[in-house]
Amino acid sequence: MIVLGIETSCDETAAALYDGSTVLANIVTTQEIHKEYGGVVPELASREHLRFIIPVIRKALDEADITWKDVEGIAVTRGPGLAGSLLMGISFAKAASFALDIPIIGVNHIEAHLWSPVFEYPELSTPFIGLIISGGHTQLWLVRDFGDYSLLGQTLDDAVGEAFDKIAQMLGLEYPGGPVIDKLSKEGDPDFYRFPRPALKSDNFDFSFSGLKTSVLYYLDDLSEEDIVRHKADIASSFQMAAVDTLVGKTIRAAKEYNIDRIVVGGGVAANSTLKEVLQSHSDNSSLSLFIPSPEYCTDNAAMIAYVGYHRFMRSESDELTFSALPSLSLESVSLS
Ligand code: KG4
Ligand code: ZN
Repeated sequence: MIVLGIETSCDETAAALYDGSTVLANIVTTQEIHKEYGGVVPELASREHLRFIIPVIRKALDEADITWKDVEGIAVTRGPGLAGSLLMGISFAKAASFALDIPIIGVNHIEAHLWSPVFEYPELSTPFIGLIISGGHTQLWLVRDFGDYSLLGQTLDDAVGEAFDKIAQMLGLEYPGGPVIDKLSKEGDPDFYRFPRPALKSDNFDFSFSGLKTSVLYYLDDLSEEDIVRHKADIASSFQMAAVDTLVGKTIRAAKEYNIDRIVVGGGVAANSTLKEVLQSHSDNSSLSLFIPSPEYCTDNAAMIAYVGYHRFMRSESDELTFSALPSLSLESVSLS
């Protein structure tokens, strides 16, 4: 069965084709328009999805060397995400499903991130601990099986990607801040200044990044312009290390506490090179297997949506054309019928 995946939950317009074993095409257009605003502007995101969705799907069909006639099911992100953006993808998917008379299914975006390593690590099996870190999410999941998910903890305030973006802005770097801080940090000293890691002291699995953001802000307030310029890489690197220590500390502790020996990381921040290094070395020390997809599958993409849709179709699930976007869709409500 060839499934067309469509993802429009935030600022990526993406389409992919998946046949149950191979990703036949995976096309992502990142909307550049938000750069000048330093963050995603929801209304502009919806309009850009409308502009990009048909060319992106056409490109996916071309790359897979198939036509609409070969598509046997459509999987589309139902939530969580921006309401207007989700609606663009869902409306298009419904129209295509109706016109072609093929089944449609709404997919949970977080569930899709949890399975995103499967294309590069087909051996991935359950149970595993899943850390989903992006501009909108910071969550730790226990995945017992496909369709069986428990939220262990999440951020109480900012998402970690949001913290990267805001610190980058404070340092006068461009948006999105994550990749820029990642690169700049390589020239800096991660021990230059020790920013607080308060979440590590609590015995739950929740995160908090607004305190870290504020402490960077106060630290910068006390420095001269000259010192900020001279130590930009050191400050970026010290912030990054505080964020990474928190993410890694909680993830490894969750694996130990739940006696799980596999860890999956997904979402844009999973592309962070220091996070990968530190998590890999802690995983090795504790004999845990680590599954982090390449950036193509870490960041928002439609292949992961098609994958979840495919497996739900295989379980004889599908949605009526009346289903709606759910901007706050929770994953714990997703269970196999
Ligand atoms: O998953 P994603 O593409 O979109 C959503 O937010 O859903 O994640 C984007 C986030 C941004 O906050 C960006 O700054 C961050 O991921 N990011 C990174 C890196 N690459 C992207 N953060 C740290 N290091 C990176 N290399
Ligand atoms: Zn995402």
